[in-house]
Amino acid sequence: MKRRYRFERDPSRQFMGRVIMKWGGGLISDKSTLCTAYADRISALAKCVGKLVSKGHEVIVVHGAGSFGHLRAREYKLSEGDIPGFDQEDAVILVRKDMDHLHEIVLASLNTMDTFSHAPRDFVKNTGAKFTGDLDRFLRPGVHITFGDVVDCDPPLNFGILSGDDLMLRLSVELPDVTHVIFAMGDTPGLMTTPGADGELIPIWRVDDQFSGQHEHGIDVTGGIFLKTERAAAISQHVEHVWFVDGLHTERILEIVENGYTYGTRISNS
Ligand code: IPE
Repeated sequence: MKRRYRFERDPSRQFMGRVIMKWGGGLISDKSTLCTAYADRISALAKCVGKLVSKGHEVIVVHGAGSFGHLRAREYKLSEGDIPGFDQEDAVILVRKDMDHLHEIVLASLNTMDTFSHAPRDFVKNTGAKFTGDLDRFLRPGVHITFGDVVDCDPPLNFGILSGDDLMLRLSVELPDVTHVIFAMGDTPGLMTTPGADGELIPIWRVDDQFSGQHEHGIDVTGGIFLKTERAAAISQHVEHVWFVDGLHTERILEIVENGYTYGTRISNS
């Protein structure tokens, strides 16, 4: 159900719609080395947000975890919830602390704008697409930032990992005026036909089309490219522009919003 728009906007600025972006963890951090952020990439993405805001768009940034979340979460099996006899308490605290660290870096990059930070552990219960949590907090005019996190769950799990891709789904489907949903990824221009150098970019991907993707079981505790694609397909039922792009080329994000086209994969519901 779409929410009503309840906040006053600056009447001098024409409202151009809401853009929701995922900054993939593999894009903003070195996934193989614990807690290593790519400051230059984050700063380029933040500049891109600034340009969208100056053109009258509301922006929500959902960032992933990369090496600030997956490595330790995997070691302590946090996505499986509370495992009897296995001491995971310190790991829950540590992963949350590491995510706060990454979140602070992201927030700092956006500090010239009016930002609102939403740590999921403060308002979400349970994981997956059906998590509970009040999303009205994202309606206030400004740039909103949230992220994949360790959240509390009903017993017997007690805790689990909420992926940023599930936040993307719920925000895109439930908030009003969402015009563009863009998954900015690292190391790929979009969805590819086959793995490796022979793979070609799929410019438009329809729900039943094949694509090639690798789930990094050794690293990822959430669903990787397969979860992302599933969530993007569901979002495309509600939002016209849903895209996977190479987040190293932030001009492509602007091209989507300004021209409706870029080098990347558009997710289509038809
Ligand atoms: C994962 O979030 C959160 C933690 C591991 C704490 P995401 O699923 O959104 O992260 P990325 O984009 O794959 O890194």
